[in-house]
Amino acid sequence: MKNIIITGGSGDIGGAVAKRFLDYGWHVHLLLRSFESPIIQSIMKLSFVSVYQSDPENEAITLSTIQAIKNDGVIPDFVFHSAGTFLWDDGYPKQARPFLEVRDILLRANVKTKASPVNAIESVYKDSLSKIEQAFIGSHAANFAPDAPERTGKYKEEAYVEAMSIVQNMVNILADSGKYKNIFLFEPGLINTKMAQQAFPEERLGFKIDWDTVATPEQYAEAIFPKEFFEARQ
Ligand SMILES: NC(=O)c1ccc[n+]([C@@H]2O[C@H](COP(=O)([O-])OP(=O)(O)OC[C@H]3O[C@@H](n4cnc5c(N)ncnc54)[C@H](OP(=O)(O)O)[C@@H]3O)[C@@H](O)[C@H]2O)c1
Repeated sequence: MKNIIITGGSGDIGGAVAKRFLDYGWHVHLLLRSFESPIIQSIMKLSFVSVYQSDPENEAITLSTIQAIKNDGVIPDFVFHSAGTFLWDDGYPKQARPFLEVRDILLRANVKTKASPVNAIESVYKDSLSKIEQAFIGSHAANFAPDAPERTGKYKEEAYVEAMSIVQNMVNILADSGKYKNIFLFEPGLINTKMAQQAFPEERLGFKIDWDTVATPEQYAEAIFPKEFFEARQ
């Protein structure tokens, strides 16, 4: 049986990816900070789901979680890094946080949550890295926003964009290292999740997004992991 480790599996995209892999008969290992979401409550009842309370922001906790997975006799075939936040720098307006504090929150939530599991995998599975594939969710903002003053100015997205550029660099370095079987970076644009709706309200954008026309997490999971993906890994 194939094994996937998912961070951020309580989220809309992480949860949809978890269900997709379960549908194709994989054993899903979820690293979660919280267990309350309806997605998790439904997934936890299924066979071939292992849930680990963890915190991908925390290097030491993540290391002991990955070690626990190994102690259960599991070598992951795939690691899907979905933990992170889609909230931009002004995602905390009511709290009126200073820029450096927001920057720290966004770097921890979007970079540390990926770096800690990567480091843990490298350390715990150092003899098996060439068998492991990893996929990261970043943001296409890393490509266009640094040169787009209306993004970093009007919408105050500097810290989010910085975090996403670091993620992109980190993923490129991992891919170039040649240590892993495969490294993927997904930059989805906009997916209809609760967090995306929170990040892009009409009051912030000045126009209303028709969320019915935006891809659902399930559609997105199917797009990035089509049936051919699973057939190639049987
Ligand atoms: N939705 C979009 O349009 C879109 C676009 C581009 C990129 N993304 C990225 O895709 C990923 C999934 O997004 P989503 O829309 O499915 O959001 P979501 O429902 O909020 O899922 C994100 C999950 O990440 C986990 N997490 C762990 N550490 C976190 C931290 N420090 N701060 C915030 N969350 C943390 C949370 O799970 P636990 O609390 O259980 O650990 C949370 O459920 C995120 O990394 C997001 O940035 C989304």
